[in-house]
Amino acid sequence: MLFQAAAVLATAGLVAGSRCKPHSSASSIATSTSTFISSSSTTGWENVYTATGSAAVAAAAATARTSSPTSKVKGKVFDRYVSIWFENTDYAKAIADPNFAVFAKQGITLSNLFAVTHPSEPNYISVVGGDYFGMQNDNFNQVDFNVSTVFDLLDSKHISWGLYQEDMPYSGFEGQGYVNQKTGANDYVRKHNPAVIFNSVAHFEDRLSQIKNLSLIDETKSQFHADLKANKLPQWLFITPNMTSDAHDATISFAGNWLKTFLTPLLDDKNFMDNTLVLITFDENSNYALKNNILSFVLGDAVPKHLAGTTDASFYNHYSELATVEANWDLPTLGRWDVGANVFQFVAQHTGDKVRAWDASFEFDARYFFNTSYAGPFNTAKGGVRGYPAPNLALDKSVSGRRILESIKETWKGSQNPTYYRDAVEVNDGLNPPAGYSL
Ligand SMILES: *[C@@H]1O[C@H](CO)[C@@H](O)[C@H](O)[C@H]1NC(C)=O
Ligand SMILES: *[C@@H]1O[C@H](CO)[C@@H](O)[C@H](O)[C@H]1NC(C)=O
Ligand SMILES: *[C@@H]1O[C@H](CO)[C@@H](O)[C@H](O)[C@H]1NC(C)=O
Ligand SMILES: *[C@@H]1O[C@H](CO)[C@@H](O)[C@H](O)[C@H]1NC(C)=O
Repeated sequence: MLFQAAAVLATAGLVAGSRCKPHSSASSIATSTSTFISSSSTTGWENVYTATGSAAVAAAAATARTSSPTSKVKGKVFDRYVSIWFENTDYAKAIADPNFAVFAKQGITLSNLFAVTHPSEPNYISVVGGDYFGMQNDNFNQVDFNVSTVFDLLDSKHISWGLYQEDMPYSGFEGQGYVNQKTGANDYVRKHNPAVIFNSVAHFEDRLSQIKNLSLIDETKSQFHADLKANKLPQWLFITPNMTSDAHDATISFAGNWLKTFLTPLLDDKNFMDNTLVLITFDENSNYALKNNILSFVLGDAVPKHLAGTTDASFYNHYSELATVEANWDLPTLGRWDVGANVFQFVAQHTGDKVRAWDASFEFDARYFFNTSYAGPFNTAKGGVRGYPAPNLALDKSVSGRRILESIKETWKGSQNPTYYRDAVEVNDGLNPPAGYSL
Protein backbone atom coordinates (compact mmCIF):
# COMPACT_ATOMS: atom_id res chain seq x y z
CA MET A 1 0.00 0.00 0.00
CA LEU A 2 2.67 2.43 0.97
CA PHE A 3 4.41 1.81 -2.29
CA GLN A 4 1.47 2.89 -4.30
CA ALA A 5 1.15 6.01 -2.19
CA ALA A 6 4.84 6.73 -2.47
CA ALA A 7 4.91 6.22 -6.22
CA VAL A 8 1.97 8.53 -6.73
CA LEU A 9 3.47 11.23 -4.60
CA ALA A 10 6.84 10.87 -6.22
CA THR A 11 5.26 11.59 -9.57
CA ALA A 12 2.73 14.13 -8.42
CA GLY A 13 5.09 15.83 -6.04
CA LEU A 14 7.95 16.33 -8.39
CA VAL A 15 6.02 18.38 -10.84
CA ALA A 16 7.35 21.77 -9.89
CA GLY A 17 4.88 23.84 -7.93
CA SER A 18 2.72 21.11 -6.42
CA ARG A 19 3.43 21.32 -2.74
CA CYS A 20 1.47 20.31 0.26
CA LYS A 21 0.61 21.07 3.85
CA PRO A 22 1.74 19.09 6.84
CA HIS A 23 -0.79 16.58 8.04
CA SER A 24 -2.86 18.03 10.84
CA SER A 25 -2.95 14.73 12.65
CA ALA A 26 -0.84 11.62 12.60
CA SER A 27 -2.88 9.40 10.35
CA SER A 28 -2.01 6.01 9.02
CA ILE A 29 0.45 5.76 6.19
CA ALA A 30 -1.97 4.31 3.71
CA THR A 31 -4.42 7.18 3.90
CA SER A 32 -1.92 9.90 3.10
CA THR A 33 -1.93 9.98 -0.68
CA SER A 34 -4.70 12.48 -1.23
CA THR A 35 -3.32 14.94 1.30
CA PHE A 36 -0.13 15.26 -0.72
CA ILE A 37 -1.76 16.52 -3.84
CA SER A 38 -2.47 20.19 -3.56
CA SER A 39 -1.50 22.82 -6.04
CA SER A 40 -2.06 25.87 -3.85
CA SER A 41 -0.09 25.22 -0.67
CA THR A 42 3.66 25.56 -0.60
CA THR A 43 4.78 24.14 2.71
CA GLY A 44 5.37 20.59 3.72
CA TRP A 45 7.37 18.90 6.44
CA GLU A 46 10.82 20.23 5.59
CA ASN A 47 10.93 22.69 8.49
CA VAL A 48 8.64 21.01 11.00
CA TYR A 49 11.22 18.98 12.94
CA THR A 50 14.26 21.26 12.99
CA ALA A 51 14.21 22.30 16.68
CA THR A 52 17.20 20.92 18.60
CA GLY A 53 16.42 21.85 22.22
CA SER A 54 15.83 18.84 24.45
CA ALA A 55 12.25 19.79 25.37
CA ALA A 56 11.26 20.34 21.73
CA VAL A 57 12.95 17.10 20.76
CA ALA A 58 11.13 15.15 23.47
CA ALA A 59 7.78 16.62 22.40
CA ALA A 60 8.36 15.85 18.73
CA ALA A 61 9.64 12.36 19.49
CA ALA A 62 6.30 11.57 21.10
CA THR A 63 4.34 12.12 17.88
CA ALA A 64 6.80 11.74 14.98
CA ARG A 65 5.90 8.84 12.75
CA THR A 66 8.09 5.85 12.05
CA SER A 67 7.39 3.48 9.19
CA SER A 68 9.11 0.39 7.96
CA PRO A 69 7.90 -0.51 4.50
CA THR A 70 9.29 -3.73 3.08
CA SER A 71 9.40 -5.23 -0.39
CA LYS A 72 10.99 -8.12 -2.21
CA VAL A 73 11.91 -6.91 -5.67
CA LYS A 74 14.45 -9.26 -7.24
CA GLY A 75 17.70 -7.62 -8.30
CA LYS A 76 19.99 -8.96 -11.00
CA VAL A 77 22.84 -9.49 -8.51
CA PHE A 78 21.60 -8.52 -5.05
CA ASP A 79 18.24 -8.12 -3.34
CA ARG A 80 19.39 -5.81 -0.56
CA TYR A 81 21.91 -2.98 -0.67
CA VAL A 82 23.43 -1.65 2.53
CA SER A 83 26.02 1.08 2.70
CA ILE A 84 27.80 2.10 5.88
CA TRP A 85 29.71 5.37 5.78
CA PHE A 86 32.72 6.23 7.91
CA GLU A 87 34.52 9.57 8.02
CA ASN A 88 37.65 11.49 7.07
CA THR A 89 40.32 8.83 6.80
CA ASP A 90 43.12 8.39 4.30
CA TYR A 91 43.10 5.08 2.45
CA ALA A 92 46.40 3.84 3.87
CA LYS A 93 45.35 4.53 7.43
CA ALA A 94 41.97 2.82 7.03
CA ILE A 95 43.35 -0.38 5.55
CA ALA A 96 46.00 -0.51 8.29
CA ASP A 97 43.26 -0.94 10.88
CA PRO A 98 42.91 -4.67 11.68
CA ASN A 99 39.10 -4.67 11.78
CA PHE A 100 38.66 -2.89 8.45
CA ALA A 101 41.36 -5.15 6.97
CA VAL A 102 39.66 -8.35 8.14
CA PHE A 103 36.29 -7.33 6.72
CA ALA A 104 37.87 -6.16 3.46
CA LYS A 105 39.37 -9.66 2.99
CA GLN A 106 35.89 -11.17 3.19
CA GLY A 107 34.86 -9.32 0.06
CA ILE A 108 36.10 -7.26 -2.88
CA THR A 109 38.27 -4.21 -2.21
CA LEU A 110 37.47 -1.31 -4.55
CA SER A 111 40.92 0.23 -4.44
CA ASN A 112 40.21 3.18 -6.75
CA LEU A 113 37.00 4.56 -5.32
CA PHE A 114 37.15 8.35 -4.89
CA ALA A 115 35.10 10.83 -2.91
CA VAL A 116 33.82 13.74 -5.01
CA THR A 117 35.04 16.72 -2.96
CA HIS A 118 35.51 18.05 0.60
CA PRO A 119 34.07 18.43 3.22
CA SER A 120 31.48 15.88 4.38
CA GLU A 121 28.05 17.12 3.40
CA PRO A 122 28.55 17.41 -0.37
CA ASN A 123 29.80 13.82 -0.45
CA TYR A 124 26.69 12.58 1.35
CA ILE A 125 24.33 14.43 -0.94
CA SER A 126 26.21 13.26 -4.04
CA VAL A 127 25.39 9.62 -3.35
CA VAL A 128 21.65 10.16 -3.41
CA GLY A 129 21.38 13.19 -5.74
CA GLY A 130 23.99 12.53 -8.43
CA ASP A 131 25.83 15.82 -7.83
CA TYR A 132 26.88 18.04 -4.93
CA PHE A 133 25.65 21.26 -6.59
CA GLY A 134 28.80 23.21 -5.77
CA MET A 135 28.59 22.63 -2.03
CA GLN A 136 31.85 23.24 -0.18
CA ASN A 137 30.46 23.47 3.37
CA ASP A 138 28.63 21.57 6.11
CA ASN A 139 25.86 24.13 6.57
CA PHE A 140 22.14 23.66 7.17
CA ASN A 141 21.43 23.23 3.46
CA GLN A 142 18.17 22.31 1.78
CA VAL A 143 18.26 21.10 -1.79
CA ASP A 144 15.37 22.44 -3.86
CA PHE A 145 12.19 20.42 -4.09
CA ASN A 146 12.53 19.95 -7.85
CA VAL A 147 15.79 17.99 -7.50
CA SER A 148 15.11 14.25 -7.56
CA THR A 149 17.04 11.53 -5.77
CA VAL A 150 17.63 7.81 -5.64
CA PHE A 151 14.49 7.61 -3.47
CA ASP A 152 12.35 8.62 -6.45
CA LEU A 153 14.10 5.96 -8.52
CA LEU A 154 13.55 3.27 -5.89
CA ASP A 155 9.92 4.29 -5.37
CA SER A 156 9.33 4.03 -9.11
CA LYS A 157 9.92 0.26 -8.80
CA HIS A 158 8.41 -0.10 -5.33
CA ILE A 159 11.76 -0.93 -3.75
CA SER A 160 11.69 -0.17 -0.04
CA TRP A 161 14.35 2.09 1.44
CA GLY A 162 15.37 3.43 4.82
CA LEU A 163 18.16 5.29 6.56
CA TYR A 164 19.50 4.41 9.99
CA GLN A 165 21.36 7.22 11.71
CA GLU A 166 23.06 6.34 14.96
CA ASP A 167 21.71 8.35 17.92
CA MET A 168 19.27 10.44 15.89
CA PRO A 169 16.69 11.25 18.59
CA TYR A 170 13.58 10.31 16.61
CA SER A 171 12.45 9.35 13.11
CA GLY A 172 12.40 12.24 10.68
CA PHE A 173 14.37 14.67 12.90
CA GLU A 174 15.53 17.56 10.70
CA GLY A 175 17.71 19.53 13.11
CA GLN A 176 21.34 20.40 12.47
CA GLY A 177 22.51 17.98 15.15
CA TYR A 178 21.82 16.36 18.49
CA VAL A 179 24.50 16.05 21.13
CA ASN A 180 24.91 13.30 23.66
CA GLN A 181 22.57 14.42 26.43
CA LYS A 182 24.92 13.28 29.19
CA THR A 183 28.30 14.41 27.90
CA GLY A 184 27.44 17.17 25.40
CA ALA A 185 29.65 15.46 22.79
CA ASN A 186 28.75 15.65 19.09
CA ASP A 187 26.61 12.68 18.30
CA TYR A 188 24.02 12.78 15.47
CA VAL A 189 24.60 15.37 12.71
CA ARG A 190 22.38 16.39 9.81
CA LYS A 191 25.35 16.83 7.47
CA HIS A 192 25.80 13.03 7.51
CA ASN A 193 22.15 12.32 6.71
CA PRO A 194 21.86 12.45 2.92
CA ALA A 195 18.06 12.11 2.69
CA VAL A 196 16.92 14.87 5.01
CA ILE A 197 18.89 17.55 3.12
CA PHE A 198 16.69 17.13 0.03
CA ASN A 199 13.34 18.89 0.22
CA SER A 200 11.95 16.35 -2.22
CA VAL A 201 12.37 13.90 0.68
CA ALA A 202 11.79 16.10 3.74
CA HIS A 203 8.63 17.63 2.25
CA PHE A 204 6.73 14.39 2.87
CA GLU A 205 5.92 12.89 6.24
CA ASP A 206 5.94 9.36 4.80
CA ARG A 207 9.47 9.83 3.58
CA LEU A 208 10.66 11.38 6.85
CA SER A 209 9.24 8.38 8.67
CA GLN A 210 11.73 6.15 6.82
CA ILE A 211 14.72 8.09 8.21
CA LYS A 212 15.21 6.25 11.47
CA ASN A 213 17.77 5.68 14.18
CA LEU A 214 20.19 3.08 15.37
CA SER A 215 21.58 2.69 18.86
CA LEU A 216 24.22 0.37 20.20
CA ILE A 217 23.93 1.79 23.70
CA ASP A 218 20.30 0.76 24.04
CA GLU A 219 19.03 -1.69 21.43
CA THR A 220 15.52 -1.40 22.84
CA LYS A 221 15.56 2.19 21.55
CA SER A 222 17.16 1.32 18.25
CA GLN A 223 14.80 1.41 15.28
CA PHE A 224 17.34 -0.54 13.25
CA HIS A 225 17.28 -3.42 15.71
CA ALA A 226 13.48 -3.27 15.95
CA ASP A 227 13.21 -3.55 12.17
CA LEU A 228 15.82 -6.31 12.11
CA LYS A 229 14.03 -8.40 14.72
CA ALA A 230 10.66 -7.90 13.03
CA ASN A 231 12.21 -8.83 9.65
CA LYS A 232 11.21 -5.40 8.36
CA LEU A 233 14.49 -4.09 7.02
CA PRO A 234 14.08 -2.40 3.65
CA GLN A 235 15.91 -3.39 0.45
CA TRP A 236 18.04 -0.23 0.31
CA LEU A 237 19.64 0.95 3.55
CA PHE A 238 22.02 3.73 4.41
CA ILE A 239 23.74 3.52 7.77
CA THR A 240 25.54 6.42 9.46
CA PRO A 241 27.39 5.74 12.70
CA ASN A 242 27.51 8.66 15.16
CA MET A 243 30.32 11.25 15.27
CA THR A 244 32.46 9.03 17.48
CA SER A 245 31.68 5.67 15.91
CA ASP A 246 32.43 6.90 12.38
CA ALA A 247 35.99 8.09 13.22
CA HIS A 248 35.11 11.78 12.86
CA ASP A 249 35.78 12.51 16.54
CA ALA A 250 37.66 9.32 17.36
CA THR A 251 40.43 7.09 16.05
CA ILE A 252 40.07 4.73 13.14
CA SER A 253 40.55 1.95 15.64
CA PHE A 254 37.40 3.06 17.53
CA ALA A 255 35.51 2.99 14.21
CA GLY A 256 36.95 -0.44 13.35
CA ASN A 257 35.73 -1.78 16.67
CA TRP A 258 32.32 -0.24 16.08
CA LEU A 259 32.11 -1.97 12.71
CA LYS A 260 33.07 -5.28 14.28
CA THR A 261 30.45 -4.91 17.02
CA PHE A 262 27.71 -3.82 14.65
CA LEU A 263 28.33 -5.99 11.61
CA THR A 264 29.53 -9.32 13.02
CA PRO A 265 26.12 -10.51 14.30
CA LEU A 266 24.46 -9.37 11.07
CA LEU A 267 26.66 -11.57 8.90
CA ASP A 268 24.71 -14.66 9.89
CA ASP A 269 21.36 -13.06 10.50
CA LYS A 270 18.91 -14.16 7.81
CA ASN A 271 16.82 -11.04 8.40
CA PHE A 272 19.77 -9.00 7.20
CA MET A 273 21.79 -11.31 4.98
CA ASP A 274 19.41 -12.31 2.24
CA ASN A 275 21.30 -11.92 -1.03
CA THR A 276 22.67 -8.74 0.50
CA LEU A 277 25.48 -6.49 -0.72
CA VAL A 278 27.17 -4.45 2.00
CA LEU A 279 29.36 -1.53 0.97
CA ILE A 280 31.73 -0.15 3.59
CA THR A 281 33.11 3.23 2.59
CA PHE A 282 34.20 6.65 3.82
CA ASP A 283 32.80 10.04 2.91
CA GLU A 284 36.22 11.52 2.11
CA ASN A 285 39.88 11.23 3.02
CA SER A 286 41.60 13.41 5.59
CA ASN A 287 44.67 14.89 3.88
CA TYR A 288 43.37 17.45 1.38
CA ALA A 289 46.66 17.51 -0.52
CA LEU A 290 46.19 13.88 -1.55
CA LYS A 291 43.86 12.50 -4.19
CA ASN A 292 40.56 11.85 -2.41
CA ASN A 293 40.86 8.04 -2.52
CA ILE A 294 38.88 6.29 0.21
CA LEU A 295 38.94 2.71 1.41
CA SER A 296 35.85 0.94 0.11
CA PHE A 297 34.93 -2.70 -0.07
CA VAL A 298 31.87 -4.84 -0.64
CA LEU A 299 30.99 -8.01 1.21
CA GLY A 300 27.92 -10.06 2.02
CA ASP A 301 26.21 -13.16 0.64
CA ALA A 302 25.60 -11.47 -2.73
CA VAL A 303 29.37 -11.41 -3.35
CA PRO A 304 30.46 -14.63 -5.06
CA LYS A 305 32.66 -16.69 -2.69
CA HIS A 306 35.49 -17.02 -5.20
CA LEU A 307 35.89 -13.23 -5.23
CA ALA A 308 36.50 -12.96 -1.47
CA GLY A 309 39.87 -11.35 -0.86
CA THR A 310 40.20 -9.90 -4.37
CA THR A 311 40.74 -6.32 -5.47
CA ASP A 312 38.94 -4.44 -8.24
CA ALA A 313 41.07 -1.46 -9.28
CA SER A 314 38.57 0.11 -11.71
CA PHE A 315 37.75 3.79 -11.28
CA TYR A 316 34.73 4.39 -9.06
CA ASN A 317 33.33 7.29 -7.07
CA HIS A 318 30.23 7.97 -4.96
CA TYR A 319 28.20 8.14 -8.18
CA SER A 320 29.13 4.50 -8.82
CA GLU A 321 27.14 3.59 -5.72
CA LEU A 322 24.07 5.11 -7.41
CA ALA A 323 24.85 3.54 -10.78
CA THR A 324 25.32 0.09 -9.23
CA VAL A 325 21.91 0.24 -7.55
CA GLU A 326 20.31 1.50 -10.78
CA ALA A 327 21.89 -1.31 -12.80
CA ASN A 328 20.95 -4.00 -10.30
CA TRP A 329 17.25 -3.16 -10.26
CA ASP A 330 17.10 -1.74 -13.77
CA LEU A 331 16.02 1.63 -12.37
CA PRO A 332 15.73 4.83 -14.36
CA THR A 333 18.44 7.46 -13.87
CA LEU A 334 18.60 10.98 -12.48
CA GLY A 335 20.16 12.34 -15.68
CA ARG A 336 23.16 13.61 -13.69
CA TRP A 337 26.59 12.14 -12.86
CA ASP A 338 24.96 8.78 -12.14
CA VAL A 339 24.47 8.15 -15.87
CA GLY A 340 28.14 7.81 -16.82
CA ALA A 341 29.42 6.39 -13.54
CA ASN A 342 30.95 2.93 -13.52
CA VAL A 343 28.89 0.09 -12.07
CA PHE A 344 30.92 -2.15 -9.75
CA GLN A 345 32.59 -4.75 -11.99
CA PHE A 346 31.15 -7.90 -10.44
CA VAL A 347 27.66 -6.42 -10.83
CA ALA A 348 28.35 -4.96 -14.29
CA GLN A 349 29.19 -8.45 -15.55
CA HIS A 350 25.59 -9.45 -14.97
CA THR A 351 23.84 -6.24 -15.99
CA GLY A 352 25.59 -5.75 -19.32
CA ASP A 353 27.28 -2.54 -18.15
CA LYS A 354 30.73 -1.63 -19.39
CA VAL A 355 33.31 -0.56 -16.83
CA ARG A 356 35.21 2.29 -18.43
CA ALA A 357 38.64 3.80 -17.78
CA TRP A 358 39.49 7.49 -17.86
CA ASP A 359 40.60 8.71 -21.24
CA ALA A 360 44.32 9.53 -21.14
CA SER A 361 43.68 13.04 -22.46
CA PHE A 362 42.22 14.03 -19.08
CA GLU A 363 45.57 13.40 -17.35
CA PHE A 364 43.86 11.86 -14.35
CA ASP A 365 47.04 11.27 -12.36
CA ALA A 366 48.42 14.76 -12.73
CA ARG A 367 45.27 16.87 -12.62
CA TYR A 368 42.33 15.37 -10.72
CA PHE A 369 42.29 15.38 -6.92
CA PHE A 370 38.56 15.71 -6.07
CA ASN A 371 39.71 17.86 -3.16
CA THR A 372 37.75 21.03 -3.81
CA SER A 373 34.29 21.95 -5.12
CA TYR A 374 33.30 23.68 -8.33
CA ALA A 375 30.75 26.52 -8.19
CA GLY A 376 27.00 26.05 -7.83
CA PRO A 377 23.92 26.92 -5.78
CA PHE A 378 25.46 25.76 -2.47
CA ASN A 379 28.89 27.28 -2.89
CA THR A 380 29.19 30.13 -0.39
CA ALA A 381 32.30 31.54 -2.06
CA LYS A 382 31.77 34.16 -4.75
CA GLY A 383 31.93 33.33 -8.44
CA GLY A 384 30.62 30.95 -11.05
CA VAL A 385 27.09 29.97 -11.99
CA ARG A 386 24.73 30.02 -8.98
CA GLY A 387 21.64 28.28 -10.40
CA TYR A 388 20.93 24.57 -10.29
CA PRO A 389 22.32 22.67 -13.24
CA ALA A 390 19.47 20.91 -15.03
CA PRO A 391 19.64 17.15 -15.52
CA ASN A 392 20.94 16.49 -19.03
CA LEU A 393 17.80 15.25 -20.78
CA ALA A 394 19.89 14.14 -23.76
CA LEU A 395 21.18 11.38 -21.48
CA ASP A 396 17.82 9.69 -21.90
CA LYS A 397 19.85 7.84 -24.50
CA SER A 398 22.96 6.49 -22.81
CA VAL A 399 25.43 3.65 -23.21
CA SER A 400 23.76 1.73 -20.37
CA GLY A 401 20.33 1.92 -22.03
CA ARG A 402 18.74 3.17 -18.80
CA ARG A 403 16.34 6.07 -19.32
CA ILE A 404 15.80 9.15 -17.17
CA LEU A 405 12.91 8.98 -14.67
CA GLU A 406 9.74 10.27 -16.36
CA SER A 407 8.90 12.81 -13.64
CA ILE A 408 12.39 14.34 -13.96
CA LYS A 409 11.93 14.79 -17.70
CA GLU A 410 8.53 16.34 -17.07
CA THR A 411 9.85 18.77 -14.44
CA TRP A 412 12.91 19.95 -16.38
CA LYS A 413 11.80 19.81 -20.01
CA GLY A 414 11.36 23.58 -20.42
CA SER A 415 14.26 24.57 -18.20
CA GLN A 416 16.77 27.13 -19.47
CA ASN A 417 19.27 26.12 -16.77
CA PRO A 418 22.66 24.97 -18.04
CA THR A 419 23.71 21.34 -17.73
CA TYR A 420 27.16 19.76 -17.57
CA TYR A 421 26.50 16.04 -17.07
CA ARG A 422 27.94 13.64 -19.62
CA ASP A 423 27.63 9.92 -20.31
CA ALA A 424 31.25 9.38 -19.32
CA VAL A 425 33.27 8.32 -16.28
CA GLU A 426 35.32 11.51 -16.36
CA VAL A 427 33.72 13.90 -13.86
CA ASN A 428 34.72 17.46 -13.08
CA ASP A 429 36.30 18.52 -9.82
CA GLY A 430 37.08 21.94 -8.37
CA LEU A 431 40.47 22.04 -10.08
CA ASN A 432 38.82 21.13 -13.39
CA PRO A 433 35.37 22.72 -13.16
CA PRO A 434 32.58 22.57 -15.74
CA ALA A 435 32.62 25.62 -18.05
CA GLY A 436 31.17 28.57 -16.13
CA TYR A 437 31.49 26.84 -12.76
CA SER A 438 34.96 28.01 -11.71
CA LEU A 439 35.21 30.20 -8.64
C1 LIG B 1 14.88 6.23 18.09
O1 LIG B 1 13.70 6.62 17.40
C2 LIG B 1 12.52 6.16 18.04
C3 LIG B 1 11.35 6.51 17.11
O2 LIG B 1 11.26 7.87 16.86
C4 LIG B 1 12.43 6.82 19.42
O3 LIG B 1 11.29 6.37 20.07
C5 LIG B 1 13.67 6.39 20.24
O4 LIG B 1 13.66 7.00 21.51
C6 LIG B 1 14.93 6.78 19.50
N1 LIG B 1 16.09 6.22 20.18
C7 LIG B 1 17.05 6.96 20.72
C8 LIG B 1 18.19 6.23 21.33
O5 LIG B 1 17.03 8.18 20.73
C1 LIG C 1 28.23 6.77 19.73
O1 LIG C 1 27.85 5.42 19.81
C2 LIG C 1 28.70 4.61 20.58
C3 LIG C 1 28.17 3.19 20.49
O2 LIG C 1 28.03 2.80 19.16
C4 LIG C 1 28.76 5.09 22.00
O3 LIG C 1 29.71 4.34 22.72
C5 LIG C 1 29.15 6.55 22.05
O4 LIG C 1 29.04 7.04 23.36
C6 LIG C 1 28.26 7.37 21.13
N1 LIG C 1 28.82 8.72 21.02
C7 LIG C 1 28.33 9.75 21.67
C8 LIG C 1 29.02 11.04 21.47
O5 LIG C 1 27.35 9.69 22.34
C1 LIG D 1 44.31 19.72 -3.90
O1 LIG D 1 45.45 18.96 -4.19
C2 LIG D 1 46.43 19.65 -4.97
C3 LIG D 1 47.54 18.65 -5.23
O2 LIG D 1 48.07 18.17 -4.04
C4 LIG D 1 46.93 20.84 -4.20
O3 LIG D 1 47.80 21.58 -5.02
C5 LIG D 1 45.75 21.72 -3.78
O4 LIG D 1 46.21 22.76 -2.94
C6 LIG D 1 44.73 20.89 -3.03
N1 LIG D 1 43.55 21.71 -2.73
C7 LIG D 1 43.14 21.90 -1.49
C8 LIG D 1 41.91 22.73 -1.33
O5 LIG D 1 43.71 21.44 -0.50
C1 LIG E 1 14.21 24.29 -9.73
O1 LIG E 1 14.37 25.18 -8.64
C2 LIG E 1 15.46 26.07 -8.76
C3 LIG E 1 15.57 26.84 -7.49
O2 LIG E 1 14.38 27.39 -7.08
C4 LIG E 1 15.28 26.95 -9.98
O3 LIG E 1 16.45 27.71 -10.17
C5 LIG E 1 15.05 26.11 -11.20
O4 LIG E 1 14.71 26.94 -12.29
C6 LIG E 1 13.93 25.12 -10.98
N1 LIG E 1 13.84 24.29 -12.13
C7 LIG E 1 12.71 23.87 -12.60
C8 LIG E 1 12.75 23.07 -13.83
O5 LIG E 1 11.67 24.13 -12.04
